[in-house]
Amino acid sequence: MKFFIDTANLDQIVEAQNLGILDGVTTNPSLMAKEGITGQDNIMKHYVDICNIAKDGDISAEVISTDYEGMVREGEALANLHPNIVVKIPMIKDGVKALKYFSEKGIKTNCTLIFSAGQALLAAKAGATYVSPFIGRLDDVSTDGLALIEQIRTIYDNYMFDTEILAASVRHPMHIIECAEIGADVMTGPLSAILALLNHPLTDIGLEKFLADYAKGNK
Ligand code: G3P
Repeated sequence: MKFFIDTANLDQIVEAQNLGILDGVTTNPSLMAKEGITGQDNIMKHYVDICNIAKDGDISAEVISTDYEGMVREGEALANLHPNIVVKIPMIKDGVKALKYFSEKGIKTNCTLIFSAGQALLAAKAGATYVSPFIGRLDDVSTDGLALIEQIRTIYDNYMFDTEILAASVRHPMHIIECAEIGADVMTGPLSAILALLNHPLTDIGLEKFLADYAKGNK
């Protein structure tokens, strides 16, 4: 399972990269705004900074246009920034056409705002590299986000689609574990959810005892 971090915060990306487990970064316009990154030039520069930190990882950069021509123009500019850029495209009608365009040009894509199996099927048919079902946002409206991951896994396996399931809007460590059990190809979540995987009280108690016993015998 690939681990992506869902942030535009450079310090958090550095921390995840230094942990040695990072396979990529996902961003969106809200995450860029949260870091105070505004204006096209600053946004483009920020994507390059992220690519330089996350080294070999796939970096999702989202288009703002909602028409086909605009998405193609923006996506090409984003893809030209760095070889690791993945063009992130919303699941709308013109987005499906843009996915097909980029797929035929060999440019990686991430189809975002996926909330149903039908949307995931369309994105795969159009040749998306990744689909991003937002599991946390489904949970927020009392709908089982993980059930959607299971449904998409079944559909993609039935037809051997190459499109990777990128479980997005992950909120906590159980989301990550359950996505891994189901067989999501990738998860993207906050650094807090990734670091929470480290925690177990028995690990802390055990380590404390090992160190205390060592200290007793090595006074
Ligand atoms: O990757 C999608 C993500 O950015 C949405 O997460 O927590 O805003 O639902 P969230």
